[in-house]
Amino acid sequence: MTDDEAFTVTPYEVEGDVDYEKLLDEFGADRLTDEQISAFPKPTHPLVRRKVFYAERDVDRFLEAVNTENPHSLVTGRGPSGLMHIGHVFPFYFAKYIQKQTNALVYIPISDDEKYLLKDLPLEKIDGHTRENLRDILAVGFDPDRTRIIVDTADADVVYPLATAFAKEVTQATVDATYGAPPNIGISFYPAVQAVHLLLPQLVDGRHPTLVPIAVDQDPHIRVCRDIASKQRYNVNKPGALLSKFLPSLGGPGKMSSSDDAPSIFLSDDRETVFEKIRQFGFSGGQSSVEAHREQGGDPTIDVSYQFLAYFFEESDDRLDQLAREYRDGSLLSGELKDIAATQIADFLEEHQRRRAEVGSLANELMPYRLTENERSRARKRVGYPTDAVVEW
Ligand code: TRP
Repeated sequence: MTDDEAFTVTPYEVEGDVDYEKLLDEFGADRLTDEQISAFPKPTHPLVRRKVFYAERDVDRFLEAVNTENPHSLVTGRGPSGLMHIGHVFPFYFAKYIQKQTNALVYIPISDDEKYLLKDLPLEKIDGHTRENLRDILAVGFDPDRTRIIVDTADADVVYPLATAFAKEVTQATVDATYGAPPNIGISFYPAVQAVHLLLPQLVDGRHPTLVPIAVDQDPHIRVCRDIASKQRYNVNKPGALLSKFLPSLGGPGKMSSSDDAPSIFLSDDRETVFEKIRQFGFSGGQSSVEAHREQGGDPTIDVSYQFLAYFFEESDDRLDQLAREYRDGSLLSGELKDIAATQIADFLEEHQRRRAEVGSLANELMPYRLTENERSRARKRVGYPTDAVVEW
């Protein structure tokens, strides 16, 4: 492999030009088939229809539960390493969409421990990001009766006993082989914590299919968790997964990261900022002059503005096809396409920000989404932890 082709994808590092197909062979996940796509509830979410979620594990089992109206759940979480950008939010909007369609249970874990262990940030910074991120997640608008939000350090009474039980199932050699050598012993333990996240709906509510819509770099966590789940004593299904590509960064294909040269579009950006960022940094598939563009046309497949629309921000397939056609034949200019993308993104963000502004005190707002005492003790009991031991002391 030459350096050009080299890429790394682990939960802790995404680098280079990702070959999504090769990654599946490496990880052992399967491509999402057209048949599976057609089994999703209708109307099919654009992220599924357009194969942004392009791969899966055990999605059939989840879809069967959906289509027979049996219990099923989704788990999608957030590592609070900073403010959220548009690449972070689409799994949450996806989960909400499915919840509306099927009344799915949704669990949303926040791994503040993971990001403290991984990033060079003091605890109070991580805590600040947790609070900001929670406001964004609340703004998405999940059904409080069918949704649970868990913060690792704040819900340690349930997370820690379960993680301890699961950690015992995983050897250091497995962690090293799955993730590479961990930078510290906390990161070495963390896969057990994420396994708690992925199994929690079943540990609270009994065995049922769970689907984890997640970016493909998180698949190692799914694999480790599936190994743990295969132990008879827990009586749980292995969690299924719906694995997504990364939203391209403004600067061109690859994961939108907060650290490369082109800025990310944050959920807090106002309309003007969105336009400025896209106009200035948006990688274009157009030609370098208007004349050349009119003559030769542009390439939507590498154009970031088009990709943003195709990934998430333009719902209509017809409109999307029309834009691609006009871009290719040169009648739609790169600047015009940028402004169309910026408009759609700014409209989406304004709606999000309007709902976010309505979120009041975090403690109050979170209350209906927190695990009840009964749910906590049910989960602890499932791994053999004496039910209310802590409370009884
Ligand atoms: N590890 C994820 C990240 O770094 C965040 C996360 C924690 C998560 N638990 C999860 C994502 C469960 C999906 C499901 O982004």
